[in-house]
Amino acid sequence: DDTKAGVKGLVDQGVTKIPRIFITPSDGLVTKPVLSDGVLPVIDLTGIDIDVKRRNLVVKEIRNASETWGFFQLLNHGIPFSVLNEMIEAVRGFNEQPNEVKAQYYTREMNKKVVFNTNFDLYEAPASCWRDTLFVNMAPDYPNPEELPATCRKIFPEYSKHVIALGTRLLELISEGLGLNPDHLKDMDCTEGFSIAANYYPACPEPELTLGAGKHSDNDFITILLQDQISGLQFLHENQWVNIPPIHGSLVVNIGDFLQLVSNDKLKSCEHRVISNKEGARISVAGFFSTLLKESTRKYGPIKELLSEENRPIYKEFTMREYNTNYNAKGFDGNASLTNFK
Ligand code: SIN
Ligand code: FE2
Repeated sequence: DDTKAGVKGLVDQGVTKIPRIFITPSDGLVTKPVLSDGVLPVIDLTGIDIDVKRRNLVVKEIRNASETWGFFQLLNHGIPFSVLNEMIEAVRGFNEQPNEVKAQYYTREMNKKVVFNTNFDLYEAPASCWRDTLFVNMAPDYPNPEELPATCRKIFPEYSKHVIALGTRLLELISEGLGLNPDHLKDMDCTEGFSIAANYYPACPEPELTLGAGKHSDNDFITILLQDQISGLQFLHENQWVNIPPIHGSLVVNIGDFLQLVSNDKLKSCEHRVISNKEGARISVAGFFSTLLKESTRKYGPIKELLSEENRPIYKEFTMREYNTNYNAKGFDGNASLTNFK
């Protein structure tokens, strides 16, 4: 079955014109060339656990980046290069194996532990996207090894363990930046749920007509993203699309909708997308921190400690499920979705 072979299946058939369903209407916004150095912060975590001064500086850098851009890059994050490389190669290996093997994981039921498909959002999105994705729910319930595709069996749990540890540290630094106790966000279960979207964006014969990922914001607390050396990721800043250039060994972090909500709009969940390219397959791995998977009945609203006479709560209280249902219905548009919780 052709659909189960994903976008890569189409490319392998040698299409030179993309099928109409992939043609994305232009949004008319301009793309800024790669930002000049130093605009999108690259934050170095070296020394934060041994030097209080350094830690305070990094807390400030993360806070400023999260308030201004909603995006930053991380260096010296503690995850070995070998783990990052192995992860990218596992995703390549999964996607570049025979279609019959991938097809075993193909499903449109997004609540399964392991899901492989194209355009999970087919009915909500304006057009199909030029990418195939393997989704895996990692925490709180790690999948059994045999549930994972063979190419991913060893590295997915290892990578997740590292990224969860890094996310936990980041949420401490973000809590501190908000003037809260370092464990505040963790105590709100922000690091309880963790899932991976491993993306494969095949080379596209008509890259100007379609997107790898349409404009969206992330419906989580934070996302930690690994991208390979092929660029494509852009975020929206003052109505311009700005490239996030790959930096070898770095990880990209972005603030999700939930963190914008609980911080009462202090931190920004920023819209982003991925453009297509002719160059060759681009690979990325997004790690999402969200308690959604636990079906938590916990209610989230602006953090009480952050509120005052001058800073009244902008949002109501909500469960993750309520938020997610709304977000899906709004076509993954965080701005439109957040408005519904005011
Ligand atoms: C996404 O945000 O959906 C993917 C980001 C990326 O592939 O760089
Ligand atoms: Fe995203």
